[in-house]
Amino acid sequence: MRGKAFAKVNLALAVYPAAADGFHPLRGLFQSISMSDTIQIEPSSGDEITVSNDEAPSDSTNLAWVAFESARRAVRISAPASLSVDKRIPTGAGLGGGSADAACVIGLMQNRHGFDDEMALDIAASIGSDVPFALTGGTAIVEGRGDRIDAQQPLTGFALCVVVPPFSLGTPAVFREWDRLGGPVGPDVPEADLPPILRGGLPIRNDLYPAALSLDDRIGDWRDDLERRWGVSVSMTGSGSALFAFFESLDEAESAAAAVDLPVRAADAVSLIDRGWEQIDA
Ligand code: C5P
Repeated sequence: MRGKAFAKVNLALAVYPAAADGFHPLRGLFQSISMSDTIQIEPSSGDEITVSNDEAPSDSTNLAWVAFESARRAVRISAPASLSVDKRIPTGAGLGGGSADAACVIGLMQNRHGFDDEMALDIAASIGSDVPFALTGGTAIVEGRGDRIDAQQPLTGFALCVVVPPFSLGTPAVFREWDRLGGPVGPDVPEADLPPILRGGLPIRNDLYPAALSLDDRIGDWRDDLERRWGVSVSMTGSGSALFAFFESLDEAESAAAAVDLPVRAADAVSLIDRGWEQIDA
């Protein structure tokens, strides 16, 4: 069986001081986007995972494999399988690619073996903070450790251009830097630069941006360059390093992507997707 796993961007991300478990409570507006990986799970004579490039590990630490093993344990099946990941979502970029792959595997296994949603969510939450959102995807307000998902009506009327600079940022390091800086608040995107549907709602800002900038000032250079090129505000998703801006249409986002002549890992016009993953075939 095959499935498509969609990346996400954090249109907004508010971060609060770490709780006793060391995790920082969040409140964010998460959005699935059309950038995707493809996952295939097939019966095999032995367990194996293959990944189409070296962006993600091709061993048992790959989140897709971790998800597969958890789901297989949950349904008490031990049949060996081969899992392959066609990896197109850049990693270490804040696009939630590994989490999307894991959620897609959980969803495919749920469709095949029929376990309940609560079990799917438990497996998802045990794998990583972004996996519960990726199970449902679309547009959602995500709170807590990423485990409280409040699905929203799909957003409309805009597209995004996503640029992934040629370096990565590690999520734990960015959260540590956020602590060290005393819990900064990110810069707001001015209302004039927001699509109408996002005006007057929760502040569109990413509190991890000042921490990412303090760790690696290249993120600021890239943001400045893109803002000059495009003439609009540029935001960071998750803990970086991917940056994005709002455009009125996919055509406009495509022109913006074409205007990026720097050595990037990706400069893609993306549309908004109303789900986190989808099954392609059985
Ligand atoms: O859950 P995930 O594996 O994505 O988290 C990676 C790391 O990022 C955590 O181990 C923690 O250091 C940090 N983190 C955090 N607060 C969150 C999410 C992640 O401190 N809400």
